[in-house]
Amino acid sequence: MFAVAIDGPAGAGKSTIAKKLAEELGFIYVDTGALYRAIGLYVLRRGGDVSSEDAVAGLLTGIKIDLAFVGLEQRVILNNEDVTGKIRTEAVSMAASAVSALKSVRAFLLNLQRHLAEENNVVMDGRDIGTVVLPNADVKIFLTASPEERARRRYEQLIHKGMSADYDAVLKDLLKRDYDDSHREAAPLKAADDAILVDTTGNELEQSVEILRNIIKERM
Ligand code: DC
Repeated sequence: MFAVAIDGPAGAGKSTIAKKLAEELGFIYVDTGALYRAIGLYVLRRGGDVSSEDAVAGLLTGIKIDLAFVGLEQRVILNNEDVTGKIRTEAVSMAASAVSALKSVRAFLLNLQRHLAEENNVVMDGRDIGTVVLPNADVKIFLTASPEERARRRYEQLIHKGMSADYDAVLKDLLKRDYDDSHREAAPLKAADDAILVDTTGNELEQSVEILRNIIKERM
């Protein structure tokens, strides 16, 4: 199997670029952030404390997460409910970031992610794919962009989906998430030593896709 690991902070363009590349390569695209989001959503619904290891660990036994692939699109199934659309709110983003710092949550999701890469050729995106989940990935890319540009992209995505959004609030949440994701003890956001760094600030989508396409082609 061939695995492409794409890590980086929120809004760097990981999912859009990864999806496009997966489609071209005929690989499945695995958005691992959606798994943390599903757990965040579940804990919010249950009124649990998203940053408490004990509270969340206790709830994990009631969670079953499946990923379904409809064509090339990943659907997230939480206890038999398709929550793909419901995990895209700012509240769930913050909850996902909080639960993702918990060791029990990371352990809970590790095998699911590895299993997908054992069974399929994948383009997998997240925060710790190249460092923890798939340390032997064939290609590792660390994708980043300036915080302002990432906030602008996320803001436009929300507006595009018909959701209400405030740029300053999006930027503030994003900076907090960056900080929390990269300063946690368990699998913090960081580039693997052997990852190739790509900064997409100022790029059109197609330019970034082209850069990654070339990196992958060289390794295949
Ligand atoms: O990529 P995203 O914004 O959907 O991710 C939501 C949160 O999940 C993010 O703030 C950090 C966490 N996450 C993680 O810790 N490890 C991953 N591999 C993917 C996401």
